[in-house]
Amino acid sequence: MNVHSIYTRLIFGYTLLVVSAFIIFGTYTYQSLQTHLYAEIYSTFSRRIDHIRHDVLPSFDKKNISGLSAQLEQIFSPEDSNRFIKILKEGKEVVYLSGPPQDRSFSPGSISFIPYHLVSNCEQGVSSNLYDNVLVFGCKTELNSVTYLIEMGVPIVETKRVLQQFVITLIVGLAVVTVIAIIAGGFLVKLALSPVEAIRASAEKITYGNVSQRLAEINTGDPIEHLSKTLNQMLDRLDQSYQNASRFSSDASHELRTPLAIIRSDLETLQKDKSLNFETHDRLGSILEEIERLSAIVESLLSIARLEAGEAKAKNEVINLSELVQSTIEQMQLLADEKNISVAINASSPVLIGGDVARIRQVIVNLFDNAVKYTPQFGKVVVSVFAEAGAAVLVLKDNGVGISADALPYIFERFYRADKVRSSTSQGTGLGLYIVRTICQAHGGVIDVQSIEGQGTQVKIELPLQKSAASV
Ligand SMILES: Nc1ncnc2c1ncn2[C@@H]1O[C@H](COP(=O)(O)OP(=O)(O)O)[C@@H](O)[C@H]1O
Ligand SMILES: [Mg+2]
Repeated sequence: MNVHSIYTRLIFGYTLLVVSAFIIFGTYTYQSLQTHLYAEIYSTFSRRIDHIRHDVLPSFDKKNISGLSAQLEQIFSPEDSNRFIKILKEGKEVVYLSGPPQDRSFSPGSISFIPYHLVSNCEQGVSSNLYDNVLVFGCKTELNSVTYLIEMGVPIVETKRVLQQFVITLIVGLAVVTVIAIIAGGFLVKLALSPVEAIRASAEKITYGNVSQRLAEINTGDPIEHLSKTLNQMLDRLDQSYQNASRFSSDASHELRTPLAIIRSDLETLQKDKSLNFETHDRLGSILEEIERLSAIVESLLSIARLEAGEAKAKNEVINLSELVQSTIEQMQLLADEKNISVAINASSPVLIGGDVARIRQVIVNLFDNAVKYTPQFGKVVVSVFAEAGAAVLVLKDNGVGISADALPYIFERFYRADKVRSSTSQGTGLGLYIVRTICQAHGGVIDVQSIEGQGTQVKIELPLQKSAASV
């Protein structure tokens, strides 16, 4: 359990609140019940003592004691009703003492009340004392100059049992309330935070390719709505600056294209001039090479700007990958021939995918170009296309220079070129694989590169098979 989690804190806070309210309410009810029960006993016994004082005692004052006993037993039947009655004359002489109760819960002879001088007069009220689970009430009254102490008592075991039962009910109630508070709290917190979850889910879907998408609209009129609006406004601003940046690089590459083309054609014309000496001719050749590289970079940058602007999969045509691979590589065969590299193509059966044919061709061109570029003379490149587990697979395998394990994680980064490669060939921009991966991802595919330095490289691309492939 994470104590810092908002779930835990809210559920804990909510439960604490409900449980505290229940405890306060329970304590208050318990005390009210206790007061009420004892007040009830007090008023009942005050009335009974008054009855003895006013009606029973005066009529027996002068008469025999056995008459008084009989009368008291007839009215109160103390033994049967488990009550205690004692009448003392002048604080010493026992005029009457009830017999042992039926339930044997106390022994009348052993019950001692509060010290005689502390007992109040009946006119002032009744004193009470708890003696061994028996609640005894009593007061002094004067009759014909003789002071009598009337004591009456009752075992409070039953009252205590009622109160105990009530406490047990409260404890059980507390446990039930706690469980309900936790469950209901969890449910309420989940419900209250569901807009946050909606924001999170929609934020997760916003990627580099769809920055124009916005977070879920939350109309709750609370801080969560403000948060979603503020985040959306922030996304607007980011989107704006993102678009500005990509528009800038697209515009810049576009603007650079024309002057570069002019320089290139001028240089080419100049190179044809027969009057140039060998050295100048040679220098012009290397300038032209650099211009070509510069043009390649500008083309790639323009390509990336367009891909990032959503052109990585502008169309969704049905493409026969096998056919496309064959025709594209046939057109590039010359590159391999120049280096005496043998090319084998295993793409006999049709494999259909859905996508933008120009972009998929760009992937094949870039990968084949790499395979040939990074494979020495008399090397071998094998290109295979097949369908496997619901995916169209394109594999390019070469036995070229390979990529070191250190460089492998970076080859998809923009402008990254392995050091060895960088020094051995000036051709290349380091943007090819980035473009390849962007196109693959836009087509719902994945790319995997495996390589052993000095032995060769295998690039594997998996794209979703077109559904109608089965019917072809
Ligand atoms: N088939 C391959 N064999 C060896 N190295 C490769 C291969 N393909 C890619 N690489 C490495 O990955 C780097 C990035 O490739 P890429 O983005 O196509 O850039 P470029 O081809 O312009 O150098 C290359 O510079 C090279 O170091
Ligand atoms: Mg390349």
